[in-house]
Amino acid sequence: MKVKLRNPDRIEHLPGPMPVSAVLARLDVNPETVLVIAEGELITKDHVLADDAEVEVRPVISGGAGPASCHACERTSVIEVRRHRSSYCAEHFVDHVRNQVRTAIDHLGMISYDERILVAVSGGKDSLALWDVLLDMGYRVDGLYIGLGIGTYSDRSEQVVRTFADRRGATLHRVDLGAAYGYDIPAATALRRRSSCGVCGLSKRYVFNRAAVEHGYDVMATGHNLDDEAATLLGNVLRWQTPLLSRQSPSLPARDGLARKVKPLYRLGEREMAAYCVIKGLDYIVEECPMVAGNTVLRYKDALNELERHAPGTKAAFLFGYLERARDEHFPADASDGATVVPCDRCGQPTGVRGGDDRITAVCAFCRTRDRVRIAMADPRRHPAGSPA
Ligand code: AMP
Ligand code: FES
Ligand code: ZN
Ligand code: ZN
Repeated sequence: MKVKLRNPDRIEHLPGPMPVSAVLARLDVNPETVLVIAEGELITKDHVLADDAEVEVRPVISGGAGPASCHACERTSVIEVRRHRSSYCAEHFVDHVRNQVRTAIDHLGMISYDERILVAVSGGKDSLALWDVLLDMGYRVDGLYIGLGIGTYSDRSEQVVRTFADRRGATLHRVDLGAAYGYDIPAATALRRRSSCGVCGLSKRYVFNRAAVEHGYDVMATGHNLDDEAATLLGNVLRWQTPLLSRQSPSLPARDGLARKVKPLYRLGEREMAAYCVIKGLDYIVEECPMVAGNTVLRYKDALNELERHAPGTKAAFLFGYLERARDEHFPADASDGATVVPCDRCGQPTGVRGGDDRITAVCAFCRTRDRVRIAMADPRRHPAGSPA
């Protein structure tokens, strides 16, 4: 049989017939981290593949094992969610995703039907699925795409987002970092003290907030999922980053020129979001950002997936336990960093200063970083003649 693997793309040939579980074991793939797709449909671990079968093993989603029938009806399941000890047919899996989003929204009062929501869409599975779910649920939700200038990866991401917006007749805002601010993410590799991913995260947060406030949206939504949030929590705990721990929340209220921010997918894993996209026929960009190599969050995700493989539910218990029991008691928000928020001298966007004196003038982290990237870009020792300055 022909097995297509991703990131990096490659083809393996294995003899059939063989069950999916054995194929994954032979290829040393953790079933928690992939989905298996044959002829455009999800298949589970017990499915036996013929010698002439062609399958794709797609990262971060998996057809797990488990009972053959859906937990809500008699139909054959297409996906198992081990932490819920449930298997679902396609239709009931979509219900499951909506129910989890509904629970997240209601539980934390994230958004309401009379509000205008701006969802940040990258072209990846999570944010496209989020936009799709919120539209299906009847919310007033527009999209925001940020062009980061990462070569063909950015071009393809934007195409995927545009196609989705056209298909749904939804409004899409676009901000191009290069055109609006004079630098792109590849240029940030010239900085010595900060990783390009760090600059990317800072830039995105800045543009998200500015776009939400300037266009008058009530709330900004991102596609961060359970895996993202658990990995971030693990990183913050490992270094006891107490200010970050007290701010980690799927729902942050608006304050001082900062828009309200919500993460309605925090109860759903990345494997579930990828499965949702396959089932709903949403075309998303499967490849990873080419600049992400060495990203520490990916290492934390690997570690958590290894724990989850042996004890399903570990990730959710870690994150939900923190949010529901540990955070408010041990990391209350007002003890975070004692910063006062003032408008940035340069761009007018809110920025935190220490000392509690609001007459202090300050330049925000975004403006400072942008200056440093642009200086580095103009340095002829880094960029030989002919490079963009
Ligand atoms: P990441 O930082 O890549 O893990 O992405 C986290 C979330 O940020 C995604 O789920 C999106 O909601 C949003 N996001 C990431 N990249 C972009 C982008 N280029 N444009 C708009 N939103 C983005
Ligand atoms: Fe930001 Fe890759 S998407 S560095
Ligand atoms: Zn069903
Ligand atoms: Zn600024």
